[in-house]
Amino acid sequence: MRIPQHLIDSAWETLEASIIQYNDRPVGTLAANDPAAPPLNYDQCFTRDFAVSALAFLMKGEVEIVRNFLTETLRLQSYDKQLDCFQPGQGLMPASFKVKCQGENEDLIPDFGEHAIARVAPVDSGLWWLLMLRAYVKASGDMALAHQPEFQNCIKLILDLCLTSRFDMFPTMLVADASYMIDRRMGVYGYPLDIQALFYIALRSAREVLLPEDDYIAVVDKRLSHLVYHLRYYYWLDMDILNEIYHYKVEEYGPTAINKFNIYPASIPEWLKEWLPEKGGYFAGNRGPGRMDFRFFTQGNLMAIICKLASEEQSQGIMDLIASHWDNLIGKMPMKLCFPALEGRDWEIITGCDAKNTSWSYHNAGNWPILLWLLAAGAQKTGRVDLAERALEMAIKRLYKDQWPEYYDGRDGRLIGKEARKFQTWTVAGVLVAHQLLNNPQHLRLVGFDEESTMLSCSVPIPF
Ligand code: GLC
Repeated sequence: MRIPQHLIDSAWETLEASIIQYNDRPVGTLAANDPAAPPLNYDQCFTRDFAVSALAFLMKGEVEIVRNFLTETLRLQSYDKQLDCFQPGQGLMPASFKVKCQGENEDLIPDFGEHAIARVAPVDSGLWWLLMLRAYVKASGDMALAHQPEFQNCIKLILDLCLTSRFDMFPTMLVADASYMIDRRMGVYGYPLDIQALFYIALRSAREVLLPEDDYIAVVDKRLSHLVYHLRYYYWLDMDILNEIYHYKVEEYGPTAINKFNIYPASIPEWLKEWLPEKGGYFAGNRGPGRMDFRFFTQGNLMAIICKLASEEQSQGIMDLIASHWDNLIGKMPMKLCFPALEGRDWEIITGCDAKNTSWSYHNAGNWPILLWLLAAGAQKTGRVDLAERALEMAIKRLYKDQWPEYYDGRDGRLIGKEARKFQTWTVAGVLVAHQLLNNPQHLRLVGFDEESTMLSCSVPIPF
């Protein structure tokens, strides 16, 4: 890789400048450090954003900031069983927190979404927290931290929130729109792939950091096996599957139904018929009753590779698709959050006319450099390092010149995002993690899983 060292040094300086201190100890990173933009809540430490910083620090051998983050956020977790609907539910981890000075003292003030634009609850925070805890243990060898009673309790409260008290009976997790990185209306309610892949990684992480004899392990294993089957079988799309869907019978009742979700062939979008390559495929964005979201979502697809949610063949298929649609998915700035954009009447109805999410901007198919780390991890996992190296070489010079924007706009990501913050921390951290992953494949062990979990045979029957 031809990456000038001064660009990497500058990225580290920017990341270090974003560190938040609490009682004279590093505890997190600001979401963005842009002097020219109103801070809103970008001066806080977001759980999902910090996960990328955490990986950058851990790969560099700096474990203290991650340990402090985990220990402090554990204390912020919503702890009590709530009957009051205005309080965060038991087990919820904060979307973000800030340090507040009260005279001589400092306090950490969490936000569970009650201050966020549109009051969105962060379903993903607890999942990222589990991923970070396992990555911290892998990097530091400090399993003792995870085995402390308060950590075990925190893990179980997150698991309870995900695994029990549900209305539906699928292995996937039911969520409201805008409950994760895409925290505005984008039609990602129900069973969005991005959340399911993160859920899967979180469950695999949890089972490694729970005490070995814990009863939760069997429950987690069972859910993992059903989840992997469900996603590999019902979300995967390639030309053969598209042909099957195209010829689906509908309104099938009872256990012999083939088209179990009653997907109507007429819902296959025109663009997909041209776009899907002969070689390769991907996991669809969402699947639920009468609904298949055919959009490509990057986070979920790349995460599926690194945690072995995707089979070997599917993993290669996803990388084949990315390679064959380089212009659409990577363009001038790796990489698209999703593809294609919602346009026209779809944009009006699905986003609620959201002016920040116009077509090919922001969450609506904007290009997000933070996704570079997932591209690097997926590429490393599948032996396709050349793809990620090419993307990183191209991106880093522009990002440095443009002062690390949050996102880019346009079909090929040439324009700095209309409302993008500069010095966006997870842009910087994403580049650093990608660089470290490509330079040293050993780092993959922090986020990757080598073996399919013992229970993950695709022969596990599903009950419907
Ligand atoms: C925006 C993004 C969200 C991110 C936050 C802080 O709200 O949509 O994913 O966590 O900014 O960077």
